[in-house]
Amino acid sequence: MYRPLVVLVLPGLSGTLTRSPATTRGFGEEATVSEATAEQEAKDAAVRHLKERDGELVVVRGWIAGSRSSGKIAFLQVRDGSGVVQAVVSRRDVPEEAWNDAVRATQESTVEVVGRVRADERAPGGVELHVTGLRLIHLSPEFPITPKEHGTAFLMQHRHLWLRSSRQRAALRVRSEVEQAIRDFYYERGYTLIDSPILTPAACEGTATLFSTDYFGEQAFLSQSGQLYLEPAAAALGKVYCFGPTFRAEKSKTRRHLMEFWMVEPEVAFLEFDGLCDLAEEFVSYLVARVLDRSAEDLKTLERDTSKLASVVPPFPRITYDDAVKILAQEKGEFAWGGDIGADEETLIASRYDRPVMVTHYPAAMKAFYMQPDPANPKVALALDMLAPEGYGEIIGGSQRIHDHDLLLQRIQEHGLPVEAFQWYLDVRKYGTFPHSGFGMGVERFVAWMCGLQHVRETIPYPRMLYRIYP
Ligand code: 4AD
Ligand code: MG
Repeated sequence: MYRPLVVLVLPGLSGTLTRSPATTRGFGEEATVSEATAEQEAKDAAVRHLKERDGELVVVRGWIAGSRSSGKIAFLQVRDGSGVVQAVVSRRDVPEEAWNDAVRATQESTVEVVGRVRADERAPGGVELHVTGLRLIHLSPEFPITPKEHGTAFLMQHRHLWLRSSRQRAALRVRSEVEQAIRDFYYERGYTLIDSPILTPAACEGTATLFSTDYFGEQAFLSQSGQLYLEPAAAALGKVYCFGPTFRAEKSKTRRHLMEFWMVEPEVAFLEFDGLCDLAEEFVSYLVARVLDRSAEDLKTLERDTSKLASVVPPFPRITYDDAVKILAQEKGEFAWGGDIGADEETLIASRYDRPVMVTHYPAAMKAFYMQPDPANPKVALALDMLAPEGYGEIIGGSQRIHDHDLLLQRIQEHGLPVEAFQWYLDVRKYGTFPHSGFGMGVERFVAWMCGLQHVRETIPYPRMLYRIYP
């Protein structure tokens, strides 16, 4: 009645692959010759495209996300990376071995399923797979992450496995969409991508947060920002941007800080401060619209209230640091000019608006050495921070840059920075100087805001946090 199966043992896999000898896929004895041919010809299919293939016989490879069975029928949730589909295995329709495998396949076991796509309104994704053959590629031991609740420390320790969970997959897909949108935005506008170095000889954003390393007997640092390297490139190419990992050895244990994060930084020749604010506004609204358009399903998985994102359209409110001081004095009873706008203050200011707010003209003393003083009031810098709504805080920091050689030299000295190390940076002002501006946006903070996540740690595959570098 039932044909013996050839058992293949694959080196490196502890499980066995079972194959029907007459075909490449294990399938039912009762299959007719023409059906057998059809099964052999079943095409590989990505779960997310199954609804376009109603009625076809397809092969799906993936992992068991969940299952249940009675004595006659088994329902397997099969995840292939592109989506999850319910595979329905009827005992009558498959060889005994396939049935037994379907029933014993544990969560995260690897399977190959052959089945016919059937449109079904009730099924998530609109289709089901009616299984005719199944191979258990690997029987997984009990998976550490089950549908029950786990503590954050446990999940972080198992980050490499946690990635398989539906919310984590959704957040990483949103991140991927955001990164693609970032590249598209600048590409479409004629910017040249400049890959700035990661190993650098000097600080960019202050010496307190540098990771240092030995560079053949010299001290080197992991880059805190590509900005200083973009400025010479702007003199070469006009509109440039960099996009890569940045490192801050901040001993901050907050929901907004990582030690390693990804920053996108545009830098534009002849762009002055108002134009910079326009660019930041255009950029952020482009990204939000793109996420709403293309990541709708993932935002749904994340239970994101998208009505809050729909209002993120230009113009964004722009207030000066002086205005911010007034707001904070009202909210907190007192707040002195020159006071630091930290996370709590950012939340207080941002809560007044339904879209990001740009805070400008900060006291020069609070900001980086390279920021252009306001010609109308040199005590303040032509600096910009963009604060996201809903408590997500500063997502963008930027400024117009000092383009006068001697003023920049003076600032470097005032900040106690080694002039020799900045000689090349000063050269940009020595040979054909030009006004220019740029900003940096942290991808993780932006993605956390899009996804409505409490903490940036879930927006990056392997977060580097204070006292955590595993896995
Ligand atoms: O405000 P920051 O420090 O600005 C710069 O580094 C400039 N050189 C950028 C430029 O003008 N080209 O950082 C920019 C952004 C912040 O607004 C925030 O979104 C993100 O980078 N960021 C962090 N994200 C996660 N973890 C950290 N520790 C971060 N520090 C900054
Ligand atoms: Mg900043």
